[in-house]
Amino acid sequence: MTILKRKIKNIILEKGPISIADFMKVALTDQNNGYYRKKMPLGSKGDFVTAPDISQIFGEIIGIWILDLWIKLNKPKDIQIVDLGGGRGTLLSDVQRVLKNKIENYIIIDISNELIKLQKKNVENVLHFERLNDIPKKPTIFIGNEFLDTFPVNQFILKEDCLKEICVNIENEELIFCHKITSLSKLISSQKSAILKVNDIFEINFESRRFIKKISNFIKDNSGGAIFFDYGYKINQGDTLQAIKENQFVNPLDYPGNADITSHVDFTDITTQAKNNMVNVWGPDKQSSFLKKMGARERLKSLENISDNKIKEELRLGLNRLIDLDQMGELFKVFAITSNKFPSPEGFTYATRSSYIVE
Ligand SMILES: C[S@@+](CC[C@H](N)C(=O)[O-])C[C@H]1O[C@@H](n2cnc3c(N)ncnc32)[C@H](O)[C@@H]1O
Repeated sequence: MTILKRKIKNIILEKGPISIADFMKVALTDQNNGYYRKKMPLGSKGDFVTAPDISQIFGEIIGIWILDLWIKLNKPKDIQIVDLGGGRGTLLSDVQRVLKNKIENYIIIDISNELIKLQKKNVENVLHFERLNDIPKKPTIFIGNEFLDTFPVNQFILKEDCLKEICVNIENEELIFCHKITSLSKLISSQKSAILKVNDIFEINFESRRFIKKISNFIKDNSGGAIFFDYGYKINQGDTLQAIKENQFVNPLDYPGNADITSHVDFTDITTQAKNNMVNVWGPDKQSSFLKKMGARERLKSLENISDNKIKEELRLGLNRLIDLDQMGELFKVFAITSNKFPSPEGFTYATRSSYIVE
């Protein structure tokens, strides 16, 4: 049994069943043994691969998206780019290639020691922080790819008698899911029970809501924007909790500390939170339509013109993986938020402005 599994069992023995969010918090971010603290999650030696490591075009398109905003802002000197959860550093280094000699200030917010080592190697001239509260207060453009899915989620289920929370308990020495009435299930019962059928499951990500509030406040106070890409849904999909270990799906309770545990992002909930926090919201759109609108295919053509046949094929397959609807093009979505008076960003089909809500 891993140290972390023993730790989780001891917490349950002491307090009783714990929420999935509390389980995820320990499994992912425990100071000594959490997944993101000790393991190399990404790349060929890790558990999964993300868009920037699939195609350089992904980071370059984000660089172009930022470049357009920077030009519309009259090319300010004192603006910073912050990558939320920097992964292997590939994304920010691809972004930097586009913004070279234009924007000078780069920050990564991360908690993974292994990844921070790689980021220092792969990204030039970058500062590291663990928390949003610690970064310099100035105009900022944030990037978050596969960042929101790391936040711990709470799950609920409507049973015949009442709404219950799905929790983690112990049975025969193993971690299992159970259903329990909790203060949270009581709190949200009246608004949710009427729209659900018995045994329907839904998720609420309170941590993501708090994070969106923080980032909205930051860009309102300092001016700026943020763009997020992630897998997720706009209409409730029930249980989306998942764990990945060595590129295979595994039971989320089986390998705390040794598997990446995430849930799909609820884009309706998260963009509603952003609007309630009085920022402008762009999207959510399919990753596929955003990348195509921003010129991903044209960039592929120009890269193909300077590549040999083997590289051409890799570039084509990489971009197809990002934009094909049956690969990452539809499941992955993108949305942006901007402060009032910030320029309109490119690439989105529509925007909803917080001011509409106030009127
Ligand atoms: C799924 S990876 C995505 C990495 C990168 N954005 C990419 O596209 O390759 C999640 C990243 O977020 C970082 N991370 C996870 N939880 C975090 C937290 N609570 N605070 C800051 N960074 C976190 C991880 O260490 C990792 O770099």
